[in-house]
Amino acid sequence: MSAIHVLCPAKINLTLEILGKRPDGYHELRTIFQAVSLYDELTVTPAARDSLTVTGLAGAPADETNLCLRALELVRQERRTDLHVAVALHKRIPTQAGLGGGSSDAAGMLAALAVVARFIAPDTPRCASGRDESRHCAARLGSDVAFFLHGGAMVGAGRGEVLEPVAPLSAGGIVLAKPEVGVGTAQAYGLITPRDYTDGGYTARCAACLQAGCALPEVAPKLYNAFAGPIERLDAGIAAVRQRLLTLHAQAALLCGSGAAVFGLYDDFDHAERSAAVLRGEGLWAEAVRPVAHGLRVTQS
Ligand code: C5P
Repeated sequence: MSAIHVLCPAKINLTLEILGKRPDGYHELRTIFQAVSLYDELTVTPAARDSLTVTGLAGAPADETNLCLRALELVRQERRTDLHVAVALHKRIPTQAGLGGGSSDAAGMLAALAVVARFIAPDTPRCASGRDESRHCAARLGSDVAFFLHGGAMVGAGRGEVLEPVAPLSAGGIVLAKPEVGVGTAQAYGLITPRDYTDGGYTARCAACLQAGCALPEVAPKLYNAFAGPIERLDAGIAAVRQRLLTLHAQAALLCGSGAAVFGLYDDFDHAERSAAVLRGEGLWAEAVRPVAHGLRVTQS
């Protein structure tokens, strides 16, 4: 085996509801994750010593705080054995955007290590031996990580790690756009007050609509994000990007996760590409993507 290559997708949340604060300090969520066709690229190679190189978009740490190395450390602890790899991470998903890039990379690392571990020691691993074990590690690495082991579209509950499949969104194109500003997840949760709590009804209605195969005009009014109000009050630039997507004829536009990126939904991929090009011309980071029914893509060379 020379290398494991993993394409790690971004996600948007079609709904993101906060039901309340839990005794463990986390918030109880109801959300609909949708994977999209923007990918970080991870290459993992067995090596004598650990190393991490990060290329592409700036912002992701290249030290032990990177979720890829935290995933490696966790797998090593679980296996109680030495396993060293060289990691090359090419970032296309911006950080502090609410697109789940770091979580997707962590899930990609678990998937890659599952392959490496099967090759090196077929009978020992826990975390790295398969889906159940990877799920056990995923929840410890972050609330969104479990979603990326599945991908497609999923209704999430609990911290976001309790997942049920739902029919994917049918939109021809999605524009992802982000101003310069970034928002940290913990910072965003710090803005939430009980006034922002809802009962899961938005998520149930949107999931039922997806499941019934509703077209985009019916899904669009069912989107919801509890962070949208607090984050747009924090930073008017983010609200301006959402408004700009609407003037560029998005059928709906909403904050991605806890921000700071925003997505706009289009019937037609070409229309989404033209809008993304306009936004790039105005100095924003912007990409046209599609909803995808898959998750991580793992190949070996
Ligand atoms: O799980 P993750 O590491 O992504 O969470 C980052 C931070 O976001 C947590 O430390 C917590 O402050 C907040 N969070 C939360 N409730 C969730 C998920 C995240 O309060 N369901």
